[in-house]
This record gives sequence, C-alpha cells and structure tokens, in this order.
Amino acid sequence: MNSVNTFTGKQAFIEYYASLEKDVMQGDFYYAFAFQNEYQSEEVRQGLMEFHSQLAKKIVDDRAIFNEKNRAIATETYKDNTNLQIKFKEVKIPVGLVITKDRVLQLAWQPEPFIIEIKNKNLIKHYHSFFLQNWNTNKAIELTNEVLNRFSINYKESSLGAINNLRDNKPAQLTADEIEKVEEEWSYEFKGQERAFGQKVVGETIKLWSVPRSTAELLEFLVVATDSKQILEIGTSAGYSTLYLAMGSTYTGGQVTTIEKLKPKAKLARKHFKKSLLNNIELIEGDAYDTLRLGKLKEIDLVFLDADKENYDKYFDLVMPLLKKGGFIIADNVFDYGHMMKPYLDKVLGTKLPGSQSDPRVESYTLPLDNGVLITRKVKS
Ligand SMILES: C[S@@+](CC[C@H](N)C(=O)[O-])C[C@H]1O[C@@H](n2cnc3c(N)ncnc32)[C@H](O)[C@@H]1O
Repeated sequence: MNSVNTFTGKQAFIEYYASLEKDVMQGDFYYAFAFQNEYQSEEVRQGLMEFHSQLAKKIVDDRAIFNEKNRAIATETYKDNTNLQIKFKEVKIPVGLVITKDRVLQLAWQPEPFIIEIKNKNLIKHYHSFFLQNWNTNKAIELTNEVLNRFSINYKESSLGAINNLRDNKPAQLTADEIEKVEEEWSYEFKGQERAFGQKVVGETIKLWSVPRSTAELLEFLVVATDSKQILEIGTSAGYSTLYLAMGSTYTGGQVTTIEKLKPKAKLARKHFKKSLLNNIELIEGDAYDTLRLGKLKEIDLVFLDADKENYDKYFDLVMPLLKKGGFIIADNVFDYGHMMKPYLDKVLGTKLPGSQSDPRVESYTLPLDNGVLITRKVKS
C-alpha cells in the first residue's frame, strides 16, 4: 500500500513516536540516521530517549548512525541501552531518516519539527540498502582500526571517514557500483576437463566472485592507513577489488598491478578500469605463478591474494623477497576455503603441532569480516 502523510509540531512529533513504538515492537528491525539538529530540543530528546528505552525492552534489531557532531550527546543519551547499536559517520543527509519494516520517515526540525511518513515498498528497499551500505562502511573502518591497533600503526579513524565522502559519485565508485549490479548475472562456462581459474570443483560455472563491499572498503582503507604505494593483486576478476585498492592508492600516490588468467574476465576488467578513469592500474593477463616467477615485479608494499587458494603458499614464497619490511599480505576466504589453503595457513599462522612455528618473518591476524580476511605483516627481512 502506498501513502504519504505529514505530521507537524512538537506535540505531533512526540505522539507519532509513541505510536511508532507499538509497530516497531512487532517488526523486526528499526534503523535510523540521526540528523544534525535532532537533539537541539530537550523535549524531543526526552521523547526519543523514552522511545529507545521502550525498544530496549524487546529484542529488535535497533541500529542508528549518528553524525560526528552528535557523538557526545548520543553516547551519553544511549549509554544504558544495550539493544541499540550506534555508529558515527558523517552521512550527508539533510534530514533524519528512519527505516522500519513498513515505512520510511523523514524527520526535520525547521522551522518546527515535522515528519514525512512514506509507505512504499521500493523506497523502503532503497533506503534499507542505503543504510546498510553506510553501516557496512563503518564496519570496514572499525576493522581497519582493529588491524592498525594490532600492528601499532598510528592513523586517525576520522581520516578514513573522510575518504568515504570524497569518493562519493566519482567515476571509479560508480564503476564499482556497476560491477555489483552484474555480479549475479555474469557467468562463463569453462570447457576444459580440469578445474581451472578459481573454480572450486571441475565443471563449476565460473562467476565473478568479487569480494563483498565491506572487504573491498577494508582493502582501500588499509592501503591509505598504511601509506602503501606499490600494490599487487592476484586474482582480478571484473576488477571490483582492484578499483578499491586503486582508489586507496590515489591517496598515497601509489599504483596497483593486478593479475588475471581468464581472458573474458581480463577483458571485462579492462573495460571497467577505462570507465573508472583511474590511471594507476596495470593489468597483467596471464598465470600469476608464471608471472611472479619471471621476477619482473619491483618492491611491493601490500599484496592482496584472491585467486587459486591452494597456491597461496607458492605466492607467499615468491612475493616475500619483494615485500618491503613492514608490508602486508592480505588473503581472502580463510573461513570458507581455509581447507584449500592449508599450506599457506601453516606458513603464516603455524600448525597446531607441538613446537610448530609460523615463518619467523611474519605476524598474522584473522579479521572476522565477510569470508575471513587474513592479514599478514612482514616484520623481519
Ligand atoms: C575470487 S576471484 C577474484 C575477485 C576479485 N579479487 C574481486 O574481489 O573483485 C579469483 C580470480 O582469480 C583468477 N585466477 C585463478 N587462478 C589464477 C592464476 N593462477 N593466475 C591468475 N589468475 C587466477 C580467476 O580467474 C578469478 O577471476
């Protein structure tokens, strides 16, 4: 059912929230973006606090994204509310936004409080993905910080947030968005008799298998936060993760070399790189192992391993001499394909056998993000 309603005035605002509470209790989630002036009225702040303390009595998925400006007030207001998950991010929305199962609310405070209530399935879907997109970005920022803390690297979280805003609507971001749209439909039937090109089993239809967006953002943030300049990626596919690595490298003055063996994918990636207008990507079409053995690559700051899992250990041996001290190897799919990369895991994490040790030149850390991202740092030459 489609409908649009408006409610104006302080009293209406508070009453509306009271009635919303009942519906939300029956729903399964409640997402909100706070807007700049939301807490300027003590009356409204009280109303919202009551609303949230009611929510906290029942388990609903209650999350809110607050602007940096509201950080102190929100932290104080919701400090006892354990059901509310709060993130801080400079989301540039002129009004507050609430998304529930059956409606989208736009809230504002000028010249007096008003609510526009919209019930429309497509709009709810749109805002829902908008919210989660911003939520996940925060997850990437948080996990980037976790890595930086773990390896004692100084970098300000707020600088990572700034990257997000600067990136909006640039051709590279739009191209990455485009890849997300073809992710499910693109496929290629490999006719050979053997398992190939990232297939897990013989005969499996080849898909793009791009990393999820939060992993891609983590890669971008790590490039920036570690000031990596020479990046190597093994496994390009359509170029989705490459674009994020390269967007990060535009901040560091760096460049990305990426290797892809499958021709149709290399062709697709080339098209995307052209569209992105980024000029810091070099695509090598060919087998990664053969390419690395040729020994033509220069020093590397950061490597992203995302190709044939069973060969990660061979790639490790070949890239270690090129990797600068302090440099990183990031390996994807530890959770879903850890069994295929056991020799690699034994090298960088050690085995469970008594006395077993990892390669003494590295320290590793598994991030619980998406398919499991294993971060390895070269600490000794
Ligand atoms: C998981 S996909 C890469 C996804 C990409 N990193 C992204 O997130 O957008 C793995 C890719 O590695 C490629 N690949 C597999 N084995 C390879 C090899 N030995 N050399 C180069 N590329 C390989 C596959 O063709 C496939 O496109």
